[in-house]
Amino acid sequence: MPMTSTEIRNKFIAFFKNRDHTVLASAPLVPENDPTVLFNTAGMQPLVPYLMGREHPSGSRRLVDIQKCVRTGDIDDIGDNTHATFFEMMGNWSLGDYFKFEAINWSYEFLTSKEEGLGLDPQRLYITVFEGDENAPKDEETASIWREIFEKNKVTGERIYFLGKDANWWPAVKKDTDAWSGPTGPCTEMFYDLTGELNSGMTKEEYLKADEQQKVVEIWNNVFMEYVKENGKIISKLEKKNVDTGSGFERMVAVVQGKESIFDTDVFCRIDAGDKRKI
Ligand code: SER
Repeated sequence: MPMTSTEIRNKFIAFFKNRDHTVLASAPLVPENDPTVLFNTAGMQPLVPYLMGREHPSGSRRLVDIQKCVRTGDIDDIGDNTHATFFEMMGNWSLGDYFKFEAINWSYEFLTSKEEGLGLDPQRLYITVFEGDENAPKDEETASIWREIFEKNKVTGERIYFLGKDANWWPAVKKDTDAWSGPTGPCTEMFYDLTGELNSGMTKEEYLKADEQQKVVEIWNNVFMEYVKENGKIISKLEKKNVDTGSGFERMVAVVQGKESIFDTDVFCRIDAGDKRKI
């Protein structure tokens, strides 16, 4: 019997609570003090002041939450298997505390551990890493942390792909003016093979095709925030580096429950008629 969405929710919170993270409730959907957006579009949105360096009211530098979001930026994708306008985002946060090593190792542990985590098959994981551009170098540090994890856990085959800012920078730095200002940096994304049929060692083109065909789905994004962006340009370095994690809750549930679509999970089961749809 696969884990229910409630069990997944509780496991995520417990995993990071056991690693000294303070548990936060979701902020309201309509931001209280952020004129740049109409809704919270990501878990990081309500935390921007603290990602910029202000001390969090809890006094903690490690936070965990599951934030309700409305995202219209990818509205053209709504109606496929993995996008919803309203969704929840699981996040663990380092405010000037841990950085790449701990964040990546804990991501892997939560995804694959049978005891404390979700017990996903590591041989079905694929990783993307920032390839570098005129703003920031290729993220070799992140790639080598991943290689070490895979080697230690005997996860074979080449499964790390270097991609540009559109895929591996949060949010992408564009040359033209971009309304969003705030903390920014390169990210590493984790994808899961929904089919169980893909072979590690795919070329970058083959991997991108599998992504386009929704054979792999993004389940986790670790952003390593080191810079400040204003009007589409990086203007300075943050005093303290942060980790911003975004993991789409509904997608994670679909992957754990072995469903191709988020709409086939228990998140979307009817409760009025006591729907006993099997998960
Ligand atoms: N900010 C990143 C995202 O929304 C990670 O939380 O994907």
